[in-house]
Amino acid sequence: MSDAKKLYIKTYGCQMNVYDSERMAEMLGASGYQETSTPDDADMILLNTCHIREKAAEKIYSELGRFKGLKAENPDLKIGVAGCVAQAEGQEIIRRQPMVDLVVGPQSYHRLGELEARAGNGVKALDTDFPEEDKFDHLASRPKARRGPTAFLTVQEGCDKFCAFCVVPYTRGAEVSRTPSRLLDEAQGLVERGVREITLLGQNVNAYHGDGDTLAGLIGKLAQIDGLERIRYTTSHPNDMQDDLISAHAECDKLMPYLHLPVQSGSDKILKAMNRKHTGDEYLRLVEKIRAACPDLLLSGDFIVGFPGETDADFEQTMDLIRAVGYGQAYSFKYSPRPGTPAAEKSHVEDAVKVERLARLQDLLTSQQRAAQQAMVGREVSVLFEKTGRLDGQLIGKSQHLHAVHVVSPASNIGSVRRVRITDSQTNSLTGELIG
Ligand code: SAH
Ligand code: SF4
Ligand code: F3S
Repeated sequence: MSDAKKLYIKTYGCQMNVYDSERMAEMLGASGYQETSTPDDADMILLNTCHIREKAAEKIYSELGRFKGLKAENPDLKIGVAGCVAQAEGQEIIRRQPMVDLVVGPQSYHRLGELEARAGNGVKALDTDFPEEDKFDHLASRPKARRGPTAFLTVQEGCDKFCAFCVVPYTRGAEVSRTPSRLLDEAQGLVERGVREITLLGQNVNAYHGDGDTLAGLIGKLAQIDGLERIRYTTSHPNDMQDDLISAHAECDKLMPYLHLPVQSGSDKILKAMNRKHTGDEYLRLVEKIRAACPDLLLSGDFIVGFPGETDADFEQTMDLIRAVGYGQAYSFKYSPRPGTPAAEKSHVEDAVKVERLARLQDLLTSQQRAAQQAMVGREVSVLFEKTGRLDGQLIGKSQHLHAVHVVSPASNIGSVRRVRITDSQTNSLTGELIG
C-alpha cells in the first residue's frame, strides 16, 4: 500500500474560504495528499487565511510561529499560506516567517499542485496573480464520495464596490460570475453525494449575472434538481436586491426564508463615507418590501462601529435602525483600519469609544436574537439533520431560519428534513420534538 502524504488545512474567515479549502484539498489530493485533522504528523500544512480585520491577519503570524517546532523536527514539512492574507501580503509573509515554503492567492490556487512540487528544501513558490484563465476551469474534478448533507457552492466571486473600509476588492479581485450550466453540474454532483442543502456563495452573491442569468434565475434552475431540498445564498448587498430575487422568496419553496443583508451603519453620513451608496431609509424601505413578499423571513446583518467620523449621534442612528428592523441574528465589529483602503487614512475613533459602542450594539442585537428564538417556541419548523449531538440519541440540524435545533431522534434521520415542534429556546439553539 502506498503511503499517502498528509495534508493539514486550517481555514479562517468567510464561507468562501471553507469552499476554497475543499477545492484545494481536492487539488492536492491529485498530488497524493490525504487530509488529516492534526498538524502534528502532517507533510504539508496549509493555512487558508482572512485579511478582513487586523486581528484576523495577525493571527496567521502567531499560528505560523507555532509550527516552528514541527518544521525543526521534520525539514521536509511544507508550509503554505493561501487565501486573502496571501494575496494582500505576498512575499512579505516569507520575509516575516522564512519557514513558509509556499504562498498562493485565492485566484491562483488551481496552480497549487505545481507550486507544491516546486516548493521545499529552501525553494519558495509564490503565486498571487489574478490570472487570465478561470481557476474553476483548471481545478481537479470533484470526488464522488458520499459527504454531509450541506455544502457551499461559490457562484460569484470578487467585488467592484470598494466600500471605504474593505480589503475584499483587493484580495479577491473584480467581480466574476460562474456560468449556470457549470454550476448546475456541480450542484447535481453534490446532490448525488448526499447533499440536501446548498448555500450559494459570493462576496456580492445577488450581483450574480452568469450568462445573462440573475441569481433568481439560477435559483429557479437549481430548484429543479431532484433531491436538492434547500437553497440559501450569502452575502447580499442591498443595492443588488432585485425584484425577481425578492419574488423568488415568495414563490420558490426550496429557497429558505433567511436573508443576510448587511447595512453596516444607520447614519446616512457614515454610509456615504463608507461608499455604501444607499441611505438608512432606502435600506428600511427595502426590508419592508422583502417582508411584504416573505413575511416569515429572518433577517441577519453586519455592523461596523467606530468608523472614522462616527459621532455619538451617528451611532444612535445605527441603534435606531436596528430597533426598526428587528434582526434575528447579526455580526458586529469594531472598525479596523486596513492598509491600502481609503478609510485607513482618516482620523480614527478612540478604541475605548468603539468598545463601549460595540457592547451596547451587541446587547441590543442579542436581545433581538433571543426574541426571535423565543418566538419559535410552540411553532412547527422543518429541520435538516446534520449530525449527532453530545447527548445520547441527540441529533442536531438547522431549521429553515438557520436556527440550530436539537432533538432526540434515531441517527437514521441524518440527511433528512423532518417536521419538528419547538419546545424551548437556549442561548444559541432551540430544542424540539419530532412530529409524526
Ligand atoms: N460582501 C459583504 C461583506 C464581506 S466582509 C458585504 O458587502 O456586506 C464581512 C463583514 O466584515 C462586512 O460586512 C463588515 O461588516 C465587516 N468588515 C469588513 N471590513 C471591515 C473592517 N475594516 N473593519 C471592521 N469590520 C469590517
Ligand atoms: Fe467589501 Fe463592500 Fe465589497 Fe462587501 S460590498 S466585499 S463590504 S467592498
Ligand atoms: Fe476574509 Fe477574504 Fe473572506 S478577507 S472574509 S477570507 S473574502
